Amino acid sequence: MSKTYKICLIEGDGIGHEVIPAARLVLEATGLKFEFVEAQAGWETFERIGTSVPEATLEAVTHTDATLFGAATSPTKKVPGFFGAIRYMRRKLDLFANVRPAKHHPVPGSRPGVDLIVVRENTEGLYVEQERTYLEGEIAIADTVITRKASARIGEYAARLAASRPRKQLHVAHKANVLPMTQGLFMNTVLAEAARFPEVKTQDIIIDNCAMQLVRNPERFDVIVTTNLFGDIISDLTAGLVGGLGIAASGNIGTRHAVFEPVHGSAPDIAGKGIANPAATILSGVMMLEHLGEHEIARRVEAAVDKVLEEGPRTPDLGGSATTLQFAEAVARAI
Ligand code: NAI
Ligand code: MG
Repeated sequence: MSKTYKICLIEGDGIGHEVIPAARLVLEATGLKFEFVEAQAGWETFERIGTSVPEATLEAVTHTDATLFGAATSPTKKVPGFFGAIRYMRRKLDLFANVRPAKHHPVPGSRPGVDLIVVRENTEGLYVEQERTYLEGEIAIADTVITRKASARIGEYAARLAASRPRKQLHVAHKANVLPMTQGLFMNTVLAEAARFPEVKTQDIIIDNCAMQLVRNPERFDVIVTTNLFGDIISDLTAGLVGGLGIAASGNIGTRHAVFEPVHGSAPDIAGKGIANPAATILSGVMMLEHLGEHEIARRVEAAVDKVLEEGPRTPDLGGSATTLQFAEAVARAI
């Protein structure tokens, strides 16, 4: 008897309600055995019960083999008592590595030859969300926190990942020239960890130069490790290199738990229309299958996604007219 994987599904808000059921349909078509546990999180949950991540959701995430998350809305102004669902789970469950591959897929605007992974430190930096204002809002200050411990952990993760890939190349992207204490601690700690992997070719790169090089020569990059805010920004850039948010997948990996999610948000402009591209969520599901050790099935699902992206039917964001469900059904058939 093959194993039954217990998977927590969190739709969240907006198009999360559309892309998660689509990804579920594809997972069910793999022939693997799944037991799905549904949990709530996000803005709608906050409006309903006053918290964006209920205890029951944390329980569900920690008592399953892995979690697939849709997207959650965050208001742009401060709402008392509200905290961003995915950022909260990252910190609370210590999902320290945000892994965002950018790999060429057969879609308009995707640059052939790109096959890189951004590894973003996921628990600290500027995203500790410690902000305050002085002088009646005339001055605003945000803290950035860098620890040796978190830098060493993400450094080791990234170096190990680079060591497992054919090119074995690691870039440490930073701004230590301007912020030698915080960014310097990150850079030096990561470089020290990477030195323990002599087969990995490691070099540091200043983040703004990294952004420019990524636009001009993205093919030369393999694994890039960086701090939280920089990783957030450059991983959207790298998503743009390979066809955009409709196909960009990610994983939030900790030592004990993992939450996989598309890079995109809740897309209020198209939510409820049934036209969201589920490819990013399905490819996040592929990362989840890899994480579970189902490498062969993961490759089959990814190939099925590529086949449908190439031959259609495509969703409107990629120039087609398929619905979310039609795309997912085509992938399920192609597996
Ligand atoms: P977004 O990713 O939701 O949307 C940006 C643009 O891309 C929109 O035009 C949207 O229609 C399009 N788009 C996104 N995903 C798509 C898909 N699967 N198929 C087709 N088109 C797609 O980013 P935005 O507009 O900046 O944020 C909207 C909300 O989402 C905000 O409340 C934000 O805080 C939240 N958000 C949540 C994230 C998460 O849950 N991890 C990540 C990013 C944003
Ligand atoms: Mg982002």
